[in-house]
Amino acid sequence: MSKGNLTISEMREADHQFLLDIWHIPQVMQYADEFPRLRGWSKSDDFHVAWSVYQRKRVKLGKNYTQLILWFDENTPIGESFFAPLNEGYKFGKWEKPDNVISLMGDIKLLPQYWGRGLGSKGIKLVIRFVFTKTSCELFVVPPHRLNPAASRVYDKVGFIPFTGMRSWRNHKIMEMTRKRYNEIYK
Ligand SMILES: CC(C)(COP(=O)(O)OP(=O)(O)OC[C@H]1O[C@@H](n2cnc3c(N)ncnc32)[C@H](O)[C@@H]1OP(=O)(O)O)[C@@H](O)C(=O)NCCC(=O)NCCS
Repeated sequence: MSKGNLTISEMREADHQFLLDIWHIPQVMQYADEFPRLRGWSKSDDFHVAWSVYQRKRVKLGKNYTQLILWFDENTPIGESFFAPLNEGYKFGKWEKPDNVISLMGDIKLLPQYWGRGLGSKGIKLVIRFVFTKTSCELFVVPPHRLNPAASRVYDKVGFIPFTGMRSWRNHKIMEMTRKRYNEIYK
């Protein structure tokens, strides 16, 4: 377990360069796809496009649509997490968003030099707390790649339950955490 304090904050304009940097590291992106354009902007967009799309979506969706930055010892950005709401009728292979249940999909990415020290697990716990205390999420889902055991392990360790109705879709699985489960584990 890594010593040092891990915190999260909502993205500010100045954090965009860090996001671009981390998204251009092939090791980080090897198993990380964006489903399907949840963010509405991506690593290929220039800063002004990205920031204005982000602001527009925030106005419409509030904190249910949030880009987070993970900080080590307050001042070193070491990772990011993003989540967004899924529309009614959303399907991910055989997994379907339950009707009328506010469902967010998200993930977490860290700079490779920080992997394997327990920080991914610590970080996603902070994200889970944020999701269930600051948003109206009732179901939080994550889509780890089937060849990415570190991601599945991290999500499993912090309480996500694998959806067993399909093996994978486009090589990704679904793992779920309901608000009820959050209340049981985290409160
Ligand atoms: C996924 C990610 C956030 C994990 O971060 P991390 O800081 O290494 O996570 P932790 O150290 O808390 O835990 C990693 C766990 O995975 C396990 N693990 C790592 N590689 C593994 C492998 N090849 N096979 C099996 N387990 C593995 C570790 O043993 C550890 O489990 P343990 O605590 O039971 O020993 C990090 O690898 C990452 O940023 N990857 C790139 C982006 C990405 O793919 N994100 C997921 C998108 S869904």
